[in-house]
Amino acid sequence: MTTAAEIEASAKRLGVEAVARVDAARALSDLDEAERTLLGKSSPLNDMREAIKNVEASDRAAAGKAIAAARAELEELIAERRAVLVADARAESLVRDRVDLTTGGRGYRRGHLHPVTRVWRELEDVFVGLGYKVAEGPEVETDWYNFEALNFPPGHPARAMQDTLYVKLGNREEVLLRTHTSPVQVRVMEAQRPPIYSVMPGRAFRRDTLDARHSPVFHQIEGLAVDRGITLGDLLGTIEAFIHALFGPDINARFLPSFFPFTEPSAEFAMTCVFCDGNGCSVCSGTGWVELGGCGMVDPHVFEAVNIDPEEYTGFAFGFGIDRLVQLLYGVDHIKNLWDGDVRFAEQF
Ligand code: FA5
Repeated sequence: MTTAAEIEASAKRLGVEAVARVDAARALSDLDEAERTLLGKSSPLNDMREAIKNVEASDRAAAGKAIAAARAELEELIAERRAVLVADARAESLVRDRVDLTTGGRGYRRGHLHPVTRVWRELEDVFVGLGYKVAEGPEVETDWYNFEALNFPPGHPARAMQDTLYVKLGNREEVLLRTHTSPVQVRVMEAQRPPIYSVMPGRAFRRDTLDARHSPVFHQIEGLAVDRGITLGDLLGTIEAFIHALFGPDINARFLPSFFPFTEPSAEFAMTCVFCDGNGCSVCSGTGWVELGGCGMVDPHVFEAVNIDPEEYTGFAFGFGIDRLVQLLYGVDHIKNLWDGDVRFAEQF
């Protein structure tokens, strides 16, 4: 038999032990541990509760009260200690995590656009200012858009002008990385009826060996104007207008007869070499001119491929290298500098 007095005595001993244990807790984790021991499932309080079974029935209420009182006391003790430890931890973190707002901080370094992106956007602005819209097309193209609709039939020797990278998809040599932005002309003419005034910037790919002015991945901007009464004079004036907008009025544009299957007549256009003011230097191979791109009047065969009546409409198209333009604008002697990812180079712009 256990008596109520024995249970009361155990509760009192537990109380004394608990005070020592709770006071010894220096961190919240210590206190949690103490709480588990004192009030958890295998605590002495539970043993006492079990022992009630052995207490005389008349004494059981008193024993129960003693246990409940002990439990309440322990809970209060732990709660008080927890309040103290939480306050201590808060005070400590205020000191530890203090931010000194008077030091001013290190700030952050602001980056800037890559020169190719910048020139790409400047070109868009110039042409939008002239009333053009901006269009884009896919980089992975079909033979139809990249060649056939542009009047390069299969086996035509002009295809050899552009060393093509084919993609293993569909029939052999049917899908490719576009070799120029000209296929977007076809897509634009399929999607809308004249009058059309569009520029189409984007990436192009060729199996070209890397040298100072050629890279296997490069950027072009295509221009297309289709309307009634468009003449070669409009084409020449437009190219001159954009060259003056970018380089100022003292730079001249030059046109030389050339061949592209999708324009007739065709020309290559060049601008005064900015490195030597047209006097001749190593950059322009002593000619005083740097080639920028190709242009011409849209060939009637191309109009037929997209159901535009060549009797009613005429048009011009041009396409030139954006990377090459960046080289000229910023005096970059090797195209690979644009893609090396060397921050010391990029930071100069
Ligand atoms: C063309 O790509 C024609 N589509 C241009 C055109 C458009 C003609 C509309 C008529 C009407 P070409 O292969 O010459 O033409 O390339 C045009 C320009 O792209 C070049 O003058 C050069 O500035 C740039 N370019 C060509 N290949 C590379 C390359 N591998 N790396 C950097 N720039 C290049």
